[in-house]
Amino acid sequence: MFSVRMRSSFHGKHVSGAERICKREDIRNTVYELLTRPDNYDYISVKIERVEVKEIEKALPIKTYTFEKVEEAREFATGMLEREGIKTLILKKLFMALDTGASPDGGNMRGAMIVDIGSGERLEPDKRRGIRTVKVDWSSRKFITDLLLEKGYTLRTVDALAIATKNIHCGVVAEVCWSDDPDYTTGYIASKRLGYIRISPFKRKGSPYGGRIYFVNRGEKDRVITCLEKEAFLIKSL
Ligand code: COA
Ligand code: AMP
Repeated sequence: MFSVRMRSSFHGKHVSGAERICKREDIRNTVYELLTRPDNYDYISVKIERVEVKEIEKALPIKTYTFEKVEEAREFATGMLEREGIKTLILKKLFMALDTGASPDGGNMRGAMIVDIGSGERLEPDKRRGIRTVKVDWSSRKFITDLLLEKGYTLRTVDALAIATKNIHCGVVAEVCWSDDPDYTTGYIASKRLGYIRISPFKRKGSPYGGRIYFVNRGEKDRVITCLEKEAFLIKSL
């Protein structure tokens, strides 16, 4: 199988990224599909890499919680994550970092923070870049997409659920995510026990800040990062 990864930028700023895992005979159509995704760019790259694929039987189960205010949504998320063993103070500090740009240059990171679940210390080797989850797709992408759209979920959910499912499979204990898209305020938390919990609104409308936090056990950091970046997975079903 082949991992096909597209990313595009405009005036040096990342605008769009997407990936698929497909058979050799489907590469041409896959590249075509990915090339038609971004609207406006002055640079686009497509990487094609042969991968050994493993399977994940089931995606994390989805739940959705909607709140009036961001504060209520964050309180709910904090309560859920406390039960995963993450201290409130650690969450407050990290949420603040995501709200104000978690990269040391004050912008968004290009990947996720890796955080020691016990101490809250950030462990990612490069705090501007972070770690990206790559090489994950659905065995039957069209079938899963139709199913999720039918249930009222968005296309974003199709991709974010795949990423979260791989993360937890690789040993991330819990994840927090909200987008850097100023118009998209739904985020999620995920863990093996909680599943994939969509939370709305997880951030204020209009905010250009977002990111991902991956909580790990310190001793497992290197193994988890290798899994997230190097191992390829197809998810079979919802
Ligand atoms: N945000 C910001 N910049 C990004 C980026 C992102 N999400 N992805 C890539 N870039 C930029 C960075 O400058 C990166 O350099 P870096 O490695 O120093 O950070 C540069 O592009 C080169 O990235 P590249 O190595 O080509 O990307 P990749 O092989 O790690 O693939 C993508 C990453 C594009 C696949 C990933 O970011 C993405 O968008 N995934 C889509 C998520 C998704 O929907 N997946 C489907 C799951 S079913
Ligand atoms: P998005 O949901 O695409 O708006 O992404 C939100 C944030 O998640 C970005 O600002 C990045 O910090 C981070 N991110 C984007 N892609 C990935 C990825 N593949 N793996 C880990 N983190 C990512």
